[in-house]
Amino acid sequence: MPMEQGPDRNGHNGVGETLVSAEKVQERVRELGAEISADYAGRDLVLVGVLRGASVFLADLMRTLTIPCEVDFMAVSSYGSSADSSGVVRILKDLDDPVTGRDVLIVEAIVDSGLTLSYLIRNLAAREPATLEVCTLLSKPDRLRAEVPIRYTGIEIPDEFVIGYGLDYAQKYRNLDHVATLPEGVAPPL
Ligand code: IMP
Ligand code: MG
Repeated sequence: MPMEQGPDRNGHNGVGETLVSAEKVQERVRELGAEISADYAGRDLVLVGVLRGASVFLADLMRTLTIPCEVDFMAVSSYGSSADSSGVVRILKDLDDPVTGRDVLIVEAIVDSGLTLSYLIRNLAAREPATLEVCTLLSKPDRLRAEVPIRYTGIEIPDEFVIGYGLDYAQKYRNLDHVATLPEGVAPPL
């Protein structure tokens, strides 16, 4: 691919290599949506999006579902550095509604160490939903440290810091329609 000249259509001055194209992302989102629609037919599905990263994925995923669902959101932040999550998680925003007795599907953009998710699963399980499963668009299997049961995985990626499709670097790049590596010369967060 030729080098980009000037800012792209979202105003970024160059991003790194495309790891997952916009077309591939949309294809996997449709496949996941079909799977979830079949599995949750006749159930009481609540999608729990993990802010802010999962917002883009959730918005696309829910529109591929052919069954009724509700959405709610949690926002969490991990103490310590962003790249090496400590597993100690602070709830910045809790769910608006109770999920007791309901079929909860956590929707994440990426599972890296799995520590954030591991905390979320424990936290939500304590509210006694009927079922509790996880759907993540991306996972980095080489980095996984926590025991996290992931029911739906979109795409496995290598151990590299990625941006786009909801994922940020210093809060930027979330509006990229694809998943890319950081621009050359930009160091991943510690
Ligand atoms: P964990 O290590 O699985 O707990 O991941 C914690 C959080 O770090 C994720 O939910 C993302 O918000 C963020 N994160 C992990 N890997 C990446 C990445 O490659 N790019 C952007 N954010 C990431
Ligand atoms: Mg982030």
